[in-house]
Amino acid sequence: MGQSITFHKADQLKAKPDAGQLGFGKYFTDYMFEMDYSAEEGWHDPRIVPYGPISLDPAATIFHYGQEVFEGLKAYRTEDGRILLFRPDKNMERMNQSCARLNIPEIDEKFVIKAIKKLVAVEKDWIPSQSGQSLYIRPFIIGTDPALGVHPSNTYKLLIILSPVGSYFGNSIHPVKIYVEDEFVRAVKGGVGYAKTSGNYAASLKAQTKSEELGFDQVLWLDGVEHKYIEEVGSMNIFFKIEDEVWTPALNGSILPGVTRNSVIGLLKHWGITVKEKKISVRKLFKKAEKQKLLEVFGTGTAAVISPVGFLKWEDKVIKVGNGEIGELSQKLYDTLTGIQTGKSEDQLGWTQ
Ligand code: COI
Repeated sequence: MGQSITFHKADQLKAKPDAGQLGFGKYFTDYMFEMDYSAEEGWHDPRIVPYGPISLDPAATIFHYGQEVFEGLKAYRTEDGRILLFRPDKNMERMNQSCARLNIPEIDEKFVIKAIKKLVAVEKDWIPSQSGQSLYIRPFIIGTDPALGVHPSNTYKLLIILSPVGSYFGNSIHPVKIYVEDEFVRAVKGGVGYAKTSGNYAASLKAQTKSEELGFDQVLWLDGVEHKYIEEVGSMNIFFKIEDEVWTPALNGSILPGVTRNSVIGLLKHWGITVKEKKISVRKLFKKAEKQKLLEVFGTGTAAVISPVGFLKWEDKVIKVGNGEIGELSQKLYDTLTGIQTGKSEDQLGWTQ
């Protein structure tokens, strides 16, 4: 798609938020990217416009049947002033996999990366640069047909919004408490679990609320059929350090193929550590823990990068992982990934652009 991206200047720019108060996804920049799709014109009219509300017909399919996909990635500002994106090609590849599952027309991956780069360049002054901070990039596509019949929309809108975000955990990363959710499930094989689509997150909210009511931070999701095999933690992929190996649930159709998951596997293999992508039953995991073989547990995702788990509850059994501090391998992964992302460490695997 050789279309040029038009620029519509805002009358007024916003005051930037206090860098110490960013949190996650609370502030949005001055501009956003927008592009439309119709069967006749394909994806057309790519434009950078002032950030603001969009107008949709109340019958738009997104409101009724949830035809949506989204992505999450981050831009970083290096100490010498360069702007780096971390593996945007992987996010765009996954966006198209999500589009295929949600019956949304595919995007031109290279063109959307170009749009992201252009929008981020316009908003470069919004990229925060303190430790753990970044500019979170949220591309998403919605079905916009004003029609209540259940059918794939004929028209769509792709938007990209930007949010300056702080570290998910303040200045240090603290292990979280999770419990094994055996009533609600997040996704089932054959469904949309591997797609990054809003319905998966809607399906997770009830259990998230339940976990907080019970005094936990997040839930450990089990498979939707037998309720035996571990799938994800909260909205992240999960890893276990078992003796000198690292295990993570194999992608099976109901697990999200995380970009951070893929990067962690790549780094571990690069370091010569055995990584096993396999079916992991919760029973087997607790047996390993009883034998003191479970040394570290951590979630991986774009938002938090690495999120250590310090406490795990399943039925009446409880595992305390490590000593309440982040494990050595989890810390090394966090430091290496954020080092590459911020340009502080050498990008040996060619992940930034
Ligand atoms: C992540 O980046 O870890 C997530 O998937 C959470 C995001 C939806 C805020």
